[in-house]
Amino acid sequence: MEIQANKKRYNSTVYDPRIDYSQTESHFAFLPIKPYLESIIAPGVRALDLGCNAGRFTFLMEEMGAKAVGVDFASAPLRIARRIAEQLGSQCQFVEASMLDLPFEDRSFDLAILPKVIIELSYQDFDLLCQQLSRKLSPHGHFCFTLRDALRRIDNDHFTADSYQASTGLKVSLHDLPDIGLVEYHTYFWTVAYAKTIASRWLECVNEIEFAPNDYWLEFIVPE
Ligand SMILES: C[S@@+](CC[C@H](N)C(=O)[O-])C[C@H]1O[C@@H](n2cnc3c(N)ncnc32)[C@H](O)[C@@H]1O
Repeated sequence: MEIQANKKRYNSTVYDPRIDYSQTESHFAFLPIKPYLESIIAPGVRALDLGCNAGRFTFLMEEMGAKAVGVDFASAPLRIARRIAEQLGSQCQFVEASMLDLPFEDRSFDLAILPKVIIELSYQDFDLLCQQLSRKLSPHGHFCFTLRDALRRIDNDHFTADSYQASTGLKVSLHDLPDIGLVEYHTYFWTVAYAKTIASRWLECVNEIEFAPNDYWLEFIVPE
C-alpha cells in the first residue's frame, strides 16, 4: 500500500536539472557527502545506489572509480537516468526493482548507499533491506545512508506532533502533480537512534557524522 503510493508519485517524475548529475544545479545534493564516499570507494568497487531516481549518486560513484548500479522501483526517473548515462558515455546500469526484493546474487556488491531515501521506508521495510544487505554485500562490505532526525524537525519542518500515526510512524501527505492530480506521498518518522538500532540487528555501525545541522551520515559494515 505505502509502496504503491510512492511509486505512483515518482512515476510522474519529469526532467529537472536538479536531478541531472551533468548539471551543476544537482551538485548541492551530493557535495556534502562526497568526502565520505571518497574514503570508501577505490577503483573497481561494486557499488549499489538504492532508490537511485535519475542517478545523481550512481554517476558520482562511477566518477570515483566504482562499477555502479542504480536500483529504483519507478520507471520514469530510470528513463531519465538512462538518457543521462548515454549523454555521459557512462557504464552505469539502472535496474527497475524494489529495494525490498533485490534481484542480485549474494555478495554482488562491496558498497550500498541509501541517500535521502530512508524517510520513505517503513520500519519493517528498513529492517528487511538491512537483512538483505547483510547477504548481498561482500564480507566487510559497506552500507551508508543519510537521514534527518525527525525529532529535531518536529514542529518546524516536515513533521508536526499530530501529523503522523503514532503506532506506525507513517505520515500521509497529498501532492498535487501536473496532469495527474492529487497523489499520496508516504513518509515515516525516523530518528538516528531508531535507524541505528534497526541496522545494527544485521550490520555493525562504524561511523556516524552530523555533516550539517541535523543531516547525518551513517556507515555500517557486514560483520565477520
Ligand atoms: C527522494 S528520492 C531520492 C533519490 C536519490 N537518492 C537522489 O538523491 O537523487 C527517493 C527515490 O527512492 C525510490 N524508492 C522509494 N522506495 C523505494 C523502494 N521500496 N524500492 C525502490 N525504490 C524506491 C523512489 O522511486 C525515488 O526515486
